[in-house]
Amino acid sequence: MGASILPPPPFLALLFTLSTFCLLPQHAFAVTRHYKFDIKLQNVTRLCHTKLMVTVNGQFPGPRIVAREGDHLLVQVVNHVQNNISIHWHGIRQLQSGWADGPAYITQCPIQTGQSYVYNYTIVGQRGTLWWHAHISWLRSTVYGPIIILPKRGVPYPFAKPYKEVPIIFGEWFNADPQAVISQALKTGGGPNVSDAYTINGFPGPLYNCSAEGDTFKLKVKPGKTYMLRLINAALNDELFFSIANHSVAIVDVDAVYVKPFDTETLLITPGQTTNVLLKTKPHFPNATFFMTARPYATGPGTFDNSTVAAILEYESPQTIHSSLSNKNLPLFKPTLPPLNDTAFAANFTRKLRSLATAQFPAKVPQKVDRRFFFTVGLGTNPCPKNQTCQGPNGTKLAASVNNISFSMPTTALLQAHFFGQSNSVYTTDFPITPIFPFNYTGNPPNNTMVSNGTRLVVLPFNTSVELIMQDTSILGVESHPLHLHGYNFFVVGQGFGNFDPNKDPAKFNLVDPVERNTVGVPSGGWVAIRFLADNPGVWFMHCHLEVHLSWGLKMAWVVLDGKLPSQKLIPPPADLPKC
Ligand code: C2O
Repeated sequence: MGASILPPPPFLALLFTLSTFCLLPQHAFAVTRHYKFDIKLQNVTRLCHTKLMVTVNGQFPGPRIVAREGDHLLVQVVNHVQNNISIHWHGIRQLQSGWADGPAYITQCPIQTGQSYVYNYTIVGQRGTLWWHAHISWLRSTVYGPIIILPKRGVPYPFAKPYKEVPIIFGEWFNADPQAVISQALKTGGGPNVSDAYTINGFPGPLYNCSAEGDTFKLKVKPGKTYMLRLINAALNDELFFSIANHSVAIVDVDAVYVKPFDTETLLITPGQTTNVLLKTKPHFPNATFFMTARPYATGPGTFDNSTVAAILEYESPQTIHSSLSNKNLPLFKPTLPPLNDTAFAANFTRKLRSLATAQFPAKVPQKVDRRFFFTVGLGTNPCPKNQTCQGPNGTKLAASVNNISFSMPTTALLQAHFFGQSNSVYTTDFPITPIFPFNYTGNPPNNTMVSNGTRLVVLPFNTSVELIMQDTSILGVESHPLHLHGYNFFVVGQGFGNFDPNKDPAKFNLVDPVERNTVGVPSGGWVAIRFLADNPGVWFMHCHLEVHLSWGLKMAWVVLDGKLPSQKLIPPPADLPKC
């Protein structure tokens, strides 16, 4: 793999030769890459269960998108299934191209059966790993895949070039149909059934009942080489610890932004996050094989799948290059993962992440702030409808909210309503900038746990510099929430436990080299502070990336207005934008 995973586009070789003479600017290498995603049903068998699932091109996990920074992508998505579909390119900035972002009813109406839509966007200023996934109901449980962004041609990594690059994508396997799982839960108001297994590159591994010989992902390596693992957490509802027995890794990139490298034996990755790590293999054949395992970091009040997924790191043996049989007799080492609720590990780990912050890869942290926001994030309840019994706390229905507002999904796309000046009946622009009823957020929870419901947004003028504190609440129990912002990267300038203190905490903010990313864990029983510059016009979804919390309403959206210059405006929608 490495550069070889990317076939040279036509004429590029010639162009490259020419360029050494005429010194073409780097952007001359940008190319357009075409992909076709056929959404279709496919039978897949894991752990003795065969089920028909919605896939892209019949693949599970879905196909890789491989491109270079600066490339232009055209992805034609054709829907051959009964479900409505939309695809989100998680972490792609979508500068001026919000119509291609993908969340259903936010930037587009879903693609209906028999219809197609071409996602059209350019990758600007990002290099590393991102991913794509369905962004409607729980279809992303099977509809997901990696986006591999290589540096521009001729631009090296800020570390030695790895020998090989391997995507490692974590998922969650349900024996049942995940769509049925969530629709059942939303009806009863209780928590959804948990998954039956986690997967690595689609495979649950040998630690589960009824795991077949082919159910395990194997990473075959040579001694004395450096491999880059591109880790992606595509699980629906679980943050994951990951470790490789007897090996440490160096973290070099998160969410397609380089970081100051550091070594670790175990890492934490939330749904929505990506992490590139360098794995140096042992200098000599170790006469052993090694498990790579992942299991959840879980802090919430609900039940969760507490199982462990394993893949195998297998060294190519010098004597028996052709037989993997001999590997069966080798000792097998297993890593030790932190306890399932190890919040101290989570805090220590996330504190180590720093932007590379060099002249070539600067951390452009907003130093001044135009607008400050304080959002509580957490669970709550909705009343049970009359003539029904509900399975939430005290006969209610479970809900989740931001500033106690549980987001109601519109029936038409917010971005269209905004662009055509038809927002009146679709959304309001009065999302509260601080909680309407302040309380001791992480203390004894209030008696009234009811949320309010609405489609309320925040409007930001172009180039507003935003500081946002996200505060976990103890309503129904504290919990870590991986919050994801569409259309932007943000800088994580501070975090802490308990209630955010506006008088003391800002003094400790890191405005020099904070990590830049698109998804951050709001600490369980704590808060996180982020900053971003609203320089991308459009309507941008922000939500918890635990799918069940998304379903319960832990989501809101920002409207970022156009600037004055042509380069600061959202372009009109493409002709094939799906209709509701
Ligand atoms: Cu990966 Cu709106 O999500």
